[in-house]
Amino acid sequence: MMSIQSTLDAAARAAFESLGFPAAIAGVQESDRGDAPYQCNGALAAAGIAKKRGEKVNPREIAVKAVAILETDPAFGKLEIAGPGFINISPAADLLTTRANDLLANPASGLTADKTKTIVVDYGGANVAKPMHVGHLRSAVIGEAIKRILRAQGHTVIGDVHMGDWGLQMGHLISELTLEQPDLPYFDEDFTGDYPAEPPVTMDDLARLYPQASNKAKSDADRMEESRVATAQLQAGRRGYRALLDHFIDVSVAALKIGYGNLGVEFDLWKGEACVDPLIPDMIGGLKAKGITEEDDGALIIRVAEGEKDKTPPVMLLASSGAVLYHTTDLATLVDRKAEINPDLIVYVVDQRQALHFEQVFRAAVKAEWYARDQLFHAGFGTMNGKDGKPFKTRAGGVLRLEDLLEVMNTAARERLEASGIGADFDPAEREEIARKIGLAALKFADLQNQRMTNYIFDPERFTAFEGKTGPYLLYAVVRIKSILRKAEDMGVSSGEIQVEAEAETDLVLALDAYAKAIALSAEKYAPHMLCEHIYRVAQSFSRFYAGCPILADDVPAEVKASRLGLAKATLAQLEHGLDLLGIEAPDRM
Ligand code: ARG
Repeated sequence: MMSIQSTLDAAARAAFESLGFPAAIAGVQESDRGDAPYQCNGALAAAGIAKKRGEKVNPREIAVKAVAILETDPAFGKLEIAGPGFINISPAADLLTTRANDLLANPASGLTADKTKTIVVDYGGANVAKPMHVGHLRSAVIGEAIKRILRAQGHTVIGDVHMGDWGLQMGHLISELTLEQPDLPYFDEDFTGDYPAEPPVTMDDLARLYPQASNKAKSDADRMEESRVATAQLQAGRRGYRALLDHFIDVSVAALKIGYGNLGVEFDLWKGEACVDPLIPDMIGGLKAKGITEEDDGALIIRVAEGEKDKTPPVMLLASSGAVLYHTTDLATLVDRKAEINPDLIVYVVDQRQALHFEQVFRAAVKAEWYARDQLFHAGFGTMNGKDGKPFKTRAGGVLRLEDLLEVMNTAARERLEASGIGADFDPAEREEIARKIGLAALKFADLQNQRMTNYIFDPERFTAFEGKTGPYLLYAVVRIKSILRKAEDMGVSSGEIQVEAEAETDLVLALDAYAKAIALSAEKYAPHMLCEHIYRVAQSFSRFYAGCPILADDVPAEVKASRLGLAKATLAQLEHGLDLLGIEAPDRM
């Protein structure tokens, strides 16, 4: 069903319309004053409009007329005019009760968007061979949440990891492997047989070969040239190199699946740059035929600056060496997605420092008439910084690997558990599993609760605190409700029809009611922090309810017990549903 707020909102707009005013001025908002949960300020705007028309009415008179209409609507409880003509609104008790039971039956009630779309979310973006680092963490965490939030609205959402597997790093790997194992058939240009099915390297080899090569290349121009030549030959289709690339991709994907899996991140498509390479010649042919490319110093470009003053540099399709570039593979990926998926929308969840790249690519895709501008969106994000305010590094100054980062979180969570005596009597395996869930929830929630673009400081101690706006606080709220439900079961008490009576119950139901709005806003702005905000509000509201409305105490009448237990169940269902959209999982107990 529609949320309470939407129901009241629609009625208020209709009432103002029937009084001859635009519906847009009469929205019902959550109230910032304590008098009533909602307010409608339409009468003030309406009086302004009437004045312009040359009529003389004061806002209070309009408010009186609007209230007279709304009073006949059973959705409204108390209606009160305040000050110059604000209307304070409380929903009818029946509506609260109906909505509470609706949410108990279906925690996702009212989430579906009016128009559902096919959406690709491009996130993750790990590079083949290079180990994942914290720079890829935010993309994975935020992208996964955005994907799930859009799915909750009923959209068809396809998550694509879009691996980096076509750049110089592949040339580094190939040339370094040539030095280490020159006898492999992949390097023999006369070899015409089938290459071995088994990869010649492991993930550890790749993780070693890449830095080895790139370090040599930094100080040795000849070594760099070898990597460049290998990259160019790979891109030109040299058979043995292509076969090696396929091995590198397979080995990396297997490792990435584990890494992302540990993070609770799943992709529908494991595509990358290399797999769209075959589309590039035709794509370039088509762009040339369209007349939007230019030769520039031997390179092939598309100018994308809009007007004289716009300094946006051109898109580089081919370097003067003939090599394809980051722009080229992203454009070819757009061609591929159009042909394979034909999405209504593509959202790129990538570091804000790549904003210019996407702006250029999007403009070229619009110029090519493949997509409309509003079908392409770069959801950029800020950096995770160390305490020095600079992008997070290890003590040695290198990029921290994702596994190590997760271990840091696990350790912090374990220390918290020990300090607070939680789970002291659980067996070690369960305690370890709880620490893992707390560590991950702490990290993800700390990341997601910030506005996307904000930089934030990595602070495992603060992230794992049980008080405040943290992941562990929310897990604790979930676990507490689970334990109430277990206790009820032991006592033979079951939940029943919710009857909203006490004020704390009303507050909790209104908090739960706001879920659909939080999801809609998060989806519209690709802003998981709005969902975080909501979940935190619900957890706090539950705390107040639980403090004020005992559930299982002896003197509570049976039907009140059943009702309150139902409300606890509805709260748990929403908390778990919402946390799942954030990619956060709670333990059963702690
Ligand atoms: N592999 C890239 C990097 O590590 C990120 C890819 C982002 N997605 C895209 N379609 N360009 O920076």
